[in-house]
Amino acid sequence: MVELVPQTYFAQLNLVAVFGREAPLQVDLGCGDGGLICELARKFPEKNFLGLEKLVGRVAKTCRKSAELENVRVLNVESAYAVRYLLPENSVETFYLLFPDPWPKRRHHRRRVVTADFLTAVHRALNNEGILHIATDQENYFQQIHTTVEGHPGLESIGVNGHDLPSTKFERRFVEAGAPIYRLSLRKISPVT
Ligand SMILES: C[S@@+](CC[C@H](N)C(=O)[O-])C[C@H]1O[C@@H](n2cnc3c(N)ncnc32)[C@H](O)[C@@H]1O
Repeated sequence: MVELVPQTYFAQLNLVAVFGREAPLQVDLGCGDGGLICELARKFPEKNFLGLEKLVGRVAKTCRKSAELENVRVLNVESAYAVRYLLPENSVETFYLLFPDPWPKRRHHRRRVVTADFLTAVHRALNNEGILHIATDQENYFQQIHTTVEGHPGLESIGVNGHDLPSTKFERRFVEAGAPIYRLSLRKISPVT
């Protein structure tokens, strides 16, 4: 699929127009080279897949990989912005946040994508019972995510769910290096108020 370039970044996406059909939507936040969404899109042709990625080169790579897949769109945008401003309320069945940039230095922690505001935006965009899958190799980031989730009334941890997902490029890299992988899945448990 070619890259999705919205007419404006100041209005929510019209998903039926974007995909040319109504179907459950899955969103990969920081899709990297697009390996995960392409594999999922082949496996689940009845669903729509949206990849969000900040790096132009990786967007191009994902577009090349998904060229023959009609149910994939790729958007060059900052994930948190897109979740908050471009995705309609109750529109997403599943989010994937797999190996987000770790920002391991303490002074860089505030650059991490998972914050209370980010989880509130995810909660708004998820449909009821919708899921956010998270994985990271950084124990400190994982603990921070846990603490942030505990303070969020609309999301509950459902433990390690989705570990049978296709492995991503970064996951394979970390596994080869012997790094631990920390996983968490969250479910939306209350409507947006
Ligand atoms: C460590 S890589 C993981 C890629 C892929 N999810 C995987 O597991 O192979 C993180 C990816 O997220 C992208 N990224 C990081 N922060 C982002 C943000 N705020 N918005 C969009 N993309 C982001 C990076 O450019 C990179 O491609």
